[in-house]
Amino acid sequence: MSTRLWDKGQTTDARVLAFTVGNDPQVDLYLLPWDCIGSAAHARMLGAVGLLEHKDVSSLCAKLGLLFEQAVRGEVVISLDQEDCHTAIESYLTKELGDAGARIHTGRSRNDQVLLASRLYMRGVILSALEQLVGIADEIGKRFAMDTDLPLPGYTHLQPAMPSSVGMWWHAQYEAITRLIEQGLARLLSVNSNPLGAGAGFDTPLPLNRKLVAELLALERVDRSPIDAQNSRGRLERELLFWFSEMGAVVEKLSWDLQMFHMREFQFISLPDELTTGSSIMPQKRNPDVLELLRGRCASLRGCLTELQWVSGKLPSNYHRDLQLVKEPLVRGVQVAGSILDILPLVVQGVCWNKQELASKMHDELYATYDAFRRVRQGVPFRTAYKETAAAIAAGKTDFAALRDDFKEIAQRTALGFQEAMQELAGLKSRLAAAARTIRTAEAAIFCMP
Ligand code: ARG
Repeated sequence: MSTRLWDKGQTTDARVLAFTVGNDPQVDLYLLPWDCIGSAAHARMLGAVGLLEHKDVSSLCAKLGLLFEQAVRGEVVISLDQEDCHTAIESYLTKELGDAGARIHTGRSRNDQVLLASRLYMRGVILSALEQLVGIADEIGKRFAMDTDLPLPGYTHLQPAMPSSVGMWWHAQYEAITRLIEQGLARLLSVNSNPLGAGAGFDTPLPLNRKLVAELLALERVDRSPIDAQNSRGRLERELLFWFSEMGAVVEKLSWDLQMFHMREFQFISLPDELTTGSSIMPQKRNPDVLELLRGRCASLRGCLTELQWVSGKLPSNYHRDLQLVKEPLVRGVQVAGSILDILPLVVQGVCWNKQELASKMHDELYATYDAFRRVRQGVPFRTAYKETAAAIAAGKTDFAALRDDFKEIAQRTALGFQEAMQELAGLKSRLAAAARTIRTAEAAIFCMP
């Protein structure tokens, strides 16, 4: 017998059914635990407003808790006939509890149900990604403390430009990660609102207590406009993947820099054996594949975002079945981002700076601009000083060695800047920790009736 919620006796061609269901039975396994959490909040709210009896609320929450645990253990299968996680949950509850299960859909549509499950899923993803970014920033902090004074030639246009330092390079990575954390906290705010009650997208003429659902799930707000709640499908997913692709842009630069630093011609860094892989034909080789695949996966993230933009960006208001297709690039993007965040700490910890190589690459020409500034300090207009230095270089009459100490002042500023950045991050960390605590406490309590 069909378990489809909308089955009223007419027949749909099996090929049409398979086509419309698509990959939902697989992709919805990621949403199912979150839908259990959302459904438990919904059941408790229905109980509170008198649309469900107290004993039904208890048994629904208990069964949803069991299904949640099975899902987490990977034991749940969604059949083609069930279409998606929403039907799988309702059929399970109805099979186990009869009428109580048949009441769970009171006042909601799969349209607002999937909105809530997706937001809870994204909230969990954002929290974990933020925690991993904090961990990476902390690792970078340790590297800054270890390596700060090592010299590093600064390049523009891939040409030697000015003196720089390893500390200055680590500081840049730290700032970029801090900006990502700041943006991630904003993404957390975007998804932290209750869409349930929007129904199919036009509100529901039942006395639902949407604020209570928000409180039970530690959601900070209730979506005011039911149409906008529905229109947020795709928008919030795009925001999340945009954030991830911006994270990709940061990681891509870091991995590119390290690849260049690692080139035989540079040898600014070495990578330990654990971070490199071999060649099947060239016996001498150890390759930085991990860095290349970090770069490659950052590109994949942009691909996921692009797919999401095409699928969801061109639609008129309200629900359209196209929106089902936002889940695949979302889940794929989340997995790719997770794999990047998992491996990055190893890379940060593993880089070995080659002191001697770095020192030997600090050629005099890097100090040319400092020479012009030395003249400026003696009162020469900058453009004149610039020309004088250029002429000295052309004539081979340079003495840049005396300028090396001028970098010390910059190194001090780098250290101060890093201190400030650490303080800023400490503030963001405590905001994150407070949000994570509130959210996880609420989620962990949702299946247990008071
Ligand atoms: N699987 C569907 C999705 O992800 C669930 C919502 C179905 N709603 C509907 N009106 N057919 O969008």
